[in-house]
Amino acid sequence: MQQYAIRGGNPLVGDVEIGGAKNAALPILAAAAMTDETVYIDNIPDVCDVNVMLSTMQDIGAVVKHMSRHKIMLNARDINDLIVQNEEIKKIRASYYLLGALLGKFRFAEVVLPGGCDIGSRAIDQHLKGFRALGAEVVIEHGLIKAKAERLVGAHIYMDVVSVGATINVMMAATLAEGRTIIENAAKEPHVVDVASFLNSMGANIKGAGTDVIRIKGVSKLHGSEYTIIPDQIEAGTFMFAAAITKGDVTVKNVIPKHLESITAKLLEIGCEVKERDDCIRVVSSKPLMHTQVKTLPYPGFPTDMQPQITVALAVAKGTSIVTESIFENRFKYVDELTRMGAGIKVEGNTAIIDGVSKYTGASISAPDLRAGAALVIAALAAEGCTMVDDIKYIERGYEDFHIKLRNLGAQIELVETEKDYQKFVLKTG
Ligand code: UD1
Repeated sequence: MQQYAIRGGNPLVGDVEIGGAKNAALPILAAAAMTDETVYIDNIPDVCDVNVMLSTMQDIGAVVKHMSRHKIMLNARDINDLIVQNEEIKKIRASYYLLGALLGKFRFAEVVLPGGCDIGSRAIDQHLKGFRALGAEVVIEHGLIKAKAERLVGAHIYMDVVSVGATINVMMAATLAEGRTIIENAAKEPHVVDVASFLNSMGANIKGAGTDVIRIKGVSKLHGSEYTIIPDQIEAGTFMFAAAITKGDVTVKNVIPKHLESITAKLLEIGCEVKERDDCIRVVSSKPLMHTQVKTLPYPGFPTDMQPQITVALAVAKGTSIVTESIFENRFKYVDELTRMGAGIKVEGNTAIIDGVSKYTGASISAPDLRAGAALVIAALAAEGCTMVDDIKYIERGYEDFHIKLRNLGAQIELVETEKDYQKFVLKTG
């Protein structure tokens, strides 16, 4: 099993190229199954979750060809299996996007109940409510979500909670329904907009993505397309906070600064300099970090997927900070690991009360999930001494070449397989 060996203390300095957004790529790949024609998709991140989605699509009959590391050609004309239940797809959250896509196209789909990060209960009732409103019969049996419809007919759907997944899933199915669908209280995340743009590039008629109300005029058929996925807001934000915590000077390149506004605002508040240009942002951290308060919210609020990264920065900032998690119920599990490194954080319900300490000290820790794993790595980069981060498979689900990108910015980080390798790293870097 591989681990990261990290010696902290080096400020991160330089440029880092941000990849395509995982959470846009996953539904876009599913949506590519909605046409018989060939689709070319560029800026696909080479991360485990996306690769699981690609291989699952191949399993059910889609033809996938890599044109380069980040560009694929996909043709779904010969999809012959509408029951999606392999062991790998079970583990990823985005498996549910195949439901909306296949239901839209074939009026039938059975997909294994989704997994994903263990950050609290993650209901799918709004997805099912949306499919039912469009006329589908949906049941959960033997671990599968089963959906079928004689006809899908547009409907007026009010989402009871703002859900990225439900908004995208219902939008996909409604694209190929008869008549008009209105989704109210829709999620506004950049990846919702990206999926809508992709569907529109295939001939869909979707308006209002990025606002609370999405209007979809059903079409009978979609056609081929060439599309480039947006940059990953969370990967960019993670490197921005890595710069902040290591007293570094990092430019994240190939980003859309507008998507990063809530992250930029918090970095300014805690004392970093942030300079935006058209498609890059430079973060300079030369002063001691200051405390702040933050609450995670749907876009354009501060993203829940950046909550662990800001928490690890605030844990070494001056004063007392408060972080409130309002999206997921159990997203502070990593705090125990951070405590091993010397953090002073008390969690009460969905709030973390953080008493900033002057430094972290290296320890042996485990990544509990994807974003918390990345946050622990950036804490280790700022720590005194060495840290071994276990369970990095979670981090690899969503970050491409994470340790290589960090190393190119001057971090001392290596992949190791054994305790002996780790000890060698400690000696070599000491
Ligand atoms: C997606 C992202 C995840 C991110 C989250 C919020 C993917 C693969 N994952 O997850 O990284 O943290 O958006 O930005 O894109 N809810 C319900 N009923 C539903 C659906 C959701 O009650 O039917 C609740 C959830 O329990 C949660 C909240 O709504 O409390 C938001 O969830 P949602 O936006 O759906 O998150 P995901 O799409 O699962």
